[in-house]
Amino acid sequence: MKTVTFEVFRYDPDKDKEAYYDTFQVELRRPGYLLLDALNQIKWELDPTFTYRRSCREGVCGSDGINVNGVNMLSCMTKVEDLGSDHLVIQPLPGMNVMRDLVTDVDDFFNKFITVKPYIIRKSPNPDKEIYQSPEDRKLLDGLYECILCGCCSSSCPSFWADKKYLGPNAFLRAWRYIVDSRDEGAEERLPILNDKHGVWRCHTIYNCVEACPKELNPTDAIVKIRKMLLDQQI
Ligand code: SF4
Ligand code: SF4
Ligand code: FES
Repeated sequence: MKTVTFEVFRYDPDKDKEAYYDTFQVELRRPGYLLLDALNQIKWELDPTFTYRRSCREGVCGSDGINVNGVNMLSCMTKVEDLGSDHLVIQPLPGMNVMRDLVTDVDDFFNKFITVKPYIIRKSPNPDKEIYQSPEDRKLLDGLYECILCGCCSSSCPSFWADKKYLGPNAFLRAWRYIVDSRDEGAEERLPILNDKHGVWRCHTIYNCVEACPKELNPTDAIVKIRKMLLDQQI
C-alpha cells in the first residue's frame, strides 16, 4: 500500500507559543483516496487533537478549503494521487487568521460577502405572484450562482492579503451575480460599494482567484464587468 508524507501545520493557541509542523505517514487505502480521507486518517487513527473543518464531503458546504503545497483546494474534492507528490505540506488557507491547526477565522471573509448585499433587492411594489424570469435571463446566472463560499479565491489573492479592507474576489463575484439577476433592482446600492478604494480597482487581474476556485468560476471576469459598468455609468 502506498504511503504519503503529510507535513501538517499545527497550532493550538491554548498551549503553543508558536506554530509548528507535524509529520504523519498516511496510507492511500484505495484508488481515489481523498485528501479528506487522509485528514480523517490522521485524526481518527494518529492524533485525535488534529483539527480541521469538513461537513458535506460532497463539494457543497465549502467548509474544507486548505492549502496544499502552496495551492488552495477543497480536501473533499481532491484525490491525493492527483497531486503527484509523495510529500504534501498542508496549511490553513493563507491570509486568514488561524484559530487552531487548519481552522481559520472566516468572519472577515463573510462580513465582506455581506457588505455587497448578496440578496435580491426590490424597489418596485411587491407583485401578486412570483417574479417571472425568462430562461435567457436565468442563464445569465450560470457560472455565478454555483459559488459555495469556500474562500479559496479570496485567500489566494495578493490584494486580499495586502489590504485588509479589500472586499476580495468572492464578494465581487457575488455582487455581480445579483446585479445581473433580472429580478434585482439593487445595482445602484451596490456599485458605490464596489467603486470604493478597497473595491474592484484594487484587483491586479492576475487570476489567482480563478485558478484557486474548485467550482471553476471566474471572479476576475466579474470584476472586469463591474469595472466596465462603473465606467459606462461614470460612477
Ligand atoms: S484577479 Fe484580482 S481578485 Fe483575483 S486574485 Fe488577482 S488581484 Fe485578486
Ligand atoms: S468563487 Fe469559487 S473559490 Fe471563491 S468562494 Fe466561491 S466557490 Fe470558493
Ligand atoms: S466537506 Fe463540504 S465542500 Fe468539502
